[in-house]
Amino acid sequence: MEAEVLKNTQFIYEVALARLELGALGADAEITNGFRIFNIKKPDSIKTLIDRLAYFKRVGSESTLYSKLITYNQTRSINQYLTHWFYPYKGKFHPQMIRALLNYSQVKPGDLVLDPYMGSGTACLEAQVLGIDSIGVDISPVCNLISKVKTQSVEVLDEIMDESSEIVNKSNGNSIANFGEKNGERLDDAIAKIKNEKVRNFFQVAKLISHSDESRRGRNFNTQFKNNVEKMLVSVKDYQRAIKKHGLKIGKTTIKQGDARELPLDGKSVDAIVTSPPYSIALDYVKNDAHALKALGEDVTKIRDGFIGVRGSNGTKLQLYDGDLKKTYDEMYRVLKPKKVCSIVIGNATFQGQEVKTVELTVDYCQSLGFQLEKNVEKIIFGLYNVMQKENILIFRKE
Ligand SMILES: C[S@@+](CC[C@H](N)C(=O)[O-])C[C@H]1O[C@@H](n2cnc3c(N)ncnc32)[C@H](O)[C@@H]1O
Repeated sequence: MEAEVLKNTQFIYEVALARLELGALGADAEITNGFRIFNIKKPDSIKTLIDRLAYFKRVGSESTLYSKLITYNQTRSINQYLTHWFYPYKGKFHPQMIRALLNYSQVKPGDLVLDPYMGSGTACLEAQVLGIDSIGVDISPVCNLISKVKTQSVEVLDEIMDESSEIVNKSNGNSIANFGEKNGERLDDAIAKIKNEKVRNFFQVAKLISHSDESRRGRNFNTQFKNNVEKMLVSVKDYQRAIKKHGLKIGKTTIKQGDARELPLDGKSVDAIVTSPPYSIALDYVKNDAHALKALGEDVTKIRDGFIGVRGSNGTKLQLYDGDLKKTYDEMYRVLKPKKVCSIVIGNATFQGQEVKTVELTVDYCQSLGFQLEKNVEKIIFGLYNVMQKENILIFRKE
């Protein structure tokens, strides 16, 4: 039987992950010469392959569920389907890669997946779509908010629709300065008055995206706000349609603002970890999201203390970064159940002209804790050429 990869599967690491997910889902496979078709020998269950595979378009003549889900997309980027596009967060995971790693981890409904550096919530949303429970932790209030909105808005779609026309009217001024003054009320007040937190968060994120559109792309805030609310609404409706049409049983998601060095979880309580630590040495997340943090009323100077990689002066930064990473690996080891998989996506960044060997540190330290390195897949990255050219997908198993 043949399994054909999706058109957007272009890189060697993707083909490598495609092979790994097939194996983990019970299909022994051999790749054919064109690198687009795998020959599968005796799969355990074709239905499991159809329901779970990430990198495949079809198995035999049947289309995979994922090939259908990615068509619910309001953007031009294949990786930004459903609500994944909410907020332009730098360093987001490719959702498809997460789905493949979850497959490799062999998680099933009822299991719990952790991302201790949740960022914009990609892993939580992917686990949710796959029907797996998840918990995401991030120090940033912006990440906490975005991740909630991506994963919770579908629960309150009707209420969001009820509020949206009134809220959008509040944005009909010409500039931020006179925002909503016509209605005698500012947008912030209007949002603050919404009783349901999940509904309030939706409009907060629309506001943050619009601030970003204004500050990074020079767009008019009010126009963008109206457009963003409308486009976000269509995506949440898409998600609801997908759930109904494909009978998705979505997983439970817990989003927490917290510190990966001190996880709010019991020992041996999670069934898989998929995560990517901050490259703050290369990418200053606090600076990058300063406009959003300020819009949420945060003190940007104070908040820096908790962020891994941005702490300290140029002289102490690296040492603090390494020490902090190790603390989070201790925590990941503590909370993961034995024999379970922990996938860490990490690269060596350049700091003050020198390569920082974070991949080596991660491999050595994690092995010293009792993690066995099962796979190490290299992945090239685009867009960060000045500071980083490749990442490694390190797949460990707790002994
Ligand atoms: C590479 S990003 C993760 C991006 C994520 N994979 C996504 O798809 O959006 C790393 C994240 O680590 C977070 N972070 C930094 N210090 C942290 C800490 N002490 N505890 C938890 N998260 C932290 C940053 O806020 C950032 O969102």
